[in-house]
Parts: sequence; structure tokens; C-alpha cells
Amino acid sequence: MQTLESKNMFERALKVAPGGVHSPVRSFKSLDHHPIFFSKAEGPYLYSVDGNRYIDYCQSFGPLILGHLDPDVKTEVHKMIDTAWSFGACEKYSLALGEWIQSRIPWAEKLRFVSSGTEATMSALRVARAFTKRQKVLKFEGCYHGHVDSLLVKAGSGLAGESASDSAGISAAVAADTLVCPLDDIVAFKTIMEREAKNIAVVVIEPLPANFGLLIQRKEFLQEIAAICKQYDVLLLFDEVISGFRVALGGMAEVLGIRPDLVCYGKILGGGFPVGCYGGRQDAMNMVAPLGPVYQAGTLSANPVGMVAGLTTLQKMERLNGWKTLQERTQLLTQGMLELFKTSKTPYTVTSFASLFWIHLPTPSAIRRIQDIPTSQGPEFRGFYLACLDQGLYLSPHAYEVGFTSLAHTPEVIEQTLQIMKGALGKME
Ligand SMILES: Cc1ncc(COP(=O)(O)O)c(C=O)c1O
Repeated sequence: MQTLESKNMFERALKVAPGGVHSPVRSFKSLDHHPIFFSKAEGPYLYSVDGNRYIDYCQSFGPLILGHLDPDVKTEVHKMIDTAWSFGACEKYSLALGEWIQSRIPWAEKLRFVSSGTEATMSALRVARAFTKRQKVLKFEGCYHGHVDSLLVKAGSGLAGESASDSAGISAAVAADTLVCPLDDIVAFKTIMEREAKNIAVVVIEPLPANFGLLIQRKEFLQEIAAICKQYDVLLLFDEVISGFRVALGGMAEVLGIRPDLVCYGKILGGGFPVGCYGGRQDAMNMVAPLGPVYQAGTLSANPVGMVAGLTTLQKMERLNGWKTLQERTQLLTQGMLELFKTSKTPYTVTSFASLFWIHLPTPSAIRRIQDIPTSQGPEFRGFYLACLDQGLYLSPHAYEVGFTSLAHTPEVIEQTLQIMKGALGKME
């Protein structure tokens, strides 16, 4: 496929934005290739400025569970745009979405809409600190919770639980208030909690870690974490920005049967528009202004276009029982991929959960921690990715990012995908 116009645009974009992009993972940096520039999207497809069509399994990194430009969402969004763009005042659209969530997700006793997943996690931590009157938070290595200072930390090299900042510009003092624990290691978790629980406001986890590979956790591990949090009176925050409304209506909390104290949503909740949400126990959420002393606000919070896009998306998913269909379609896709990988010389496999999948190098046992990921995953991925791209398949452009299916990925589109992948694998040999 020729991609000259994209290449030219990227050269221009490099003069506009750092690295030519407005979010790092869009840059194709690890692929040593210019990114593709798109001008249109519909259903499962992205259309590039070069005139090429790609089947899209990135789907804006997860929000578009119905695919691009879903006709029902489009109708409601057009209606809203003809009615109002922003109120900065009380309105009926966020009430409708808020009540819809509350009536289906019992642990969202009270909630607040914001404009991104990052804002949601940042605000939830503030609530937790105010509610418990403790300073520290505990996160897990390999989980991403947005670019909140106190959550952009990684494991330190010393004592279990110690941390270091994972980005320049974060003060050592902020990083020191975050403790980092390995995933799938209940002994390490207990050790940190025994030592530090009295200082820990909240334990935050992606119950389905899907930002650094797809690190499916054992149910018992997550259950033990929940039990230990309860034992020490430490709040448990499920970051369901990816998994919420994707793995099931009630996200991983529903799948696992675990009731978190606090929960964060984003992505699907806005149906492709910038919406995030944090919520949970009423006694904790009542700490938020104007009711309580925790300040949190937003000029465009609960933007009506995002509210109707989100509600229409969720209502459609519920009406169609979209989660079951998505699971079946994803299995069709991943089974097909496994067959292809088996007969090709490219050493790949795929792990999936509900409508998320991750293509990776095979390992003897399930990958549950970042240390289990083969070190050559990054370099090996490049050839495979670019061969697929050249055949019209747009996967998430990073070896550690997951793929997403949507209801627009019909069995016919999945068959097309497998044919494209077969061609790409053939070209690599
Ligand atoms: C689990 C999780 N939490 C939080 C975030 C941050 O959300 P946003 O990018 O909307 O700020 C992300 C984004 O990928 C995420 O995957």
C-alpha cells in the first residue's frame, strides 16, 4: 500500500506537536515507521488520507464497542448537536446516564462525570485520601491508570512496595506516596499491607490489566486482595476504564463478583466522546464538593454530546446483549489466528478475554506479570505489524497494546481479517 500522503503529513505534524502526535502511542515510534493519517472511519474500517482502507482493531483504544459511526449513536449525537453543545449548568442528559448506571451497577452508589479516565482516577484517589485520612496509595506493576502524577510510578529497586517515578517531571515526594506491588503475588501484597496498611488510603488495580499486554489475573488473587483490603479497612478501587462496559455490563466487578469501594470508568462510557466517571460508596462520594470538602470540578464535565453518545451505546449493547455476541466473534477471530500462527513460521500466539485480545510471543505458561513477557516481544512485533498494515489491517500500534473487537466486526469482516493476516504472514516467510 502506498502511504506517501501520510508520510508527508507526519513530517508536518512533527513541527506542530511533540513527536507529531497528541498521545504517545499513536506515534508508531517503536515501529520505526511513520504513522498512518486517517480522514474517515465507519463500522470496522478506517480510511487513510492515502486512499487506503484498513480493518481497525484499535477502535480508538477501546471506546467504540459498536464500531465507528454507529447509526443509532450518530442519530442521537446529531440530535444533541442540533439542541445544545454544552450547558455548564444542570441538564437532563447526565441525569439520564447517571440513573441508567446507578440502576444497573449497585456499587456505583453515587458518581461524578468527568472528561477522561485520567481525571476519574485522579479524583478517586483524592476522595480516598480525604475519606480515610491516609496519604499513600498502592498500585500494581504493569497497570496503567492514566497520567496522574501519583500513578505514573514504577517499582523501585529496593524493598517490596517501594517506587520510583515513571516519567520525568514527577516529584520524588509524590512518587514516594505510591507503593508498587507485583501482580499475581499475594505474598508481596500481604507483606506491604502488614507494614503499610495504616498509611494506605486505597489499593488501585485494573482488575483486567490490559495496558501492558493482557495480564489476566487469577480470580483468587483478586478475591484475596479484596479480602485483605477489607481486613485493614483500606479502600479498593477498581480502575475499569478499559474493562468497564466491555467485558460485561458491570465490568470485571460483575465478572468476579467483587464489590469495589470505588470504581472508575471512561472509554465506552462516552461512546467515542471524552467522558470519564468515578463513583462508589455513598459515604466516600459524599466527600466531594459541593457536599463535602474534596474539590473536583470541570468546565465541560458531563458534556451532553458525550452523555447521549454513551447512553445510546450502552442501551444498544444491553438491548442486543452485545457482550455475548462480542465474545463469540472474538473467539472466532482468535481461533482463526491461532490456526494461522500454527501453520506459519512466525512464532506468535494470542491471548483473549471477552472482546480484548493480545498477540504475543508464546511462553510456557500464562503471562500474568510484566516479568513474564518475553523480552523480544517489541522487536519481533515490528515485522508482523508492518506486514499486516501493508495488507490493510490496523492493529494497536505497539507490541504491548491489546486489540479490541466491536459489534461492527461481523463474521464476514473477521474472515476478511484472517485472509489479510494469512497474506501478511505469507509475505513474512
Ligand atoms: C485502565 C485505564 N485507566 C485510565 C486510563 C486513562 O484514561 P484516559 O486516556 O481517558 O485519560 C486508561 C487509558 O488508557 C486506562 O486504560
